[in-house]
Amino acid sequence: MSQISVRKMDTADVDSVVSLGLSLKELQFQEKENIWYSHENILGFLSNPDSICLVAEIDGQFAGFRLSTFNPYVKEAYLSDIAVVEKFRRLGVAKALYTETFKILKEKDCVWVWTLVKSKNEKMAKMLISEGFEKGVNYDVYFKSI
Ligand SMILES: CC(C)(COP(=O)(O)OP(=O)(O)OC[C@H]1O[C@@H](n2cnc3c(N)ncnc32)[C@H](O)[C@@H]1OP(=O)(O)O)[C@@H](O)C(=O)NCCC(=O)NCCS
Repeated sequence: MSQISVRKMDTADVDSVVSLGLSLKELQFQEKENIWYSHENILGFLSNPDSICLVAEIDGQFAGFRLSTFNPYVKEAYLSDIAVVEKFRRLGVAKALYTETFKILKEKDCVWVWTLVKSKNEKMAKMLISEGFEKGVNYDVYFKSI
């Protein structure tokens, strides 16, 4: 039986987090090329007291991560990215990351969370329903560098 543990992300995790994030089409906003957060961006998340950056391990090996940001002014959190290493999927790693995220957010007095999922990402949609999320209205994503 695999032992899943969840802990706060550390600077030593950043390379594993960035390479997993960059490798997954599910986390990309655009189709043309894989663009995700850089090493510096993840260090930025880590230095923000309102970010919740978690890593999951299975038997001591990096198994996945979850990034979220709490907005204390409106008591809501945006759950931006979650990813699990392919060989560790369907073992409950994502569930464990959600459980810990919600525990931390409740301690911060957060009352509402939201996330974006590509319409074809059925695994994630099932995951969210199993975590008690409701489906909201659909949006198209527009983005621009400034
Ligand atoms: C989506 C993802 C995070 C799920 O991680 P995971 O650790 O395999 O998920 P869990 O084992 O905790 O599964 C939790 C629930 O999610 C759903 N689920 C997960 N993978 C699924 C799959 N392949 N097919 C159907 N349902 C699935 C199920 O409801 C599952 O509960 P169950 O196993 O009791 O049926 C993982 O597949 C992943 O990293 N995908 C690529 C990145 C991604 O899509 N991120 C989300 C971007 S919004």
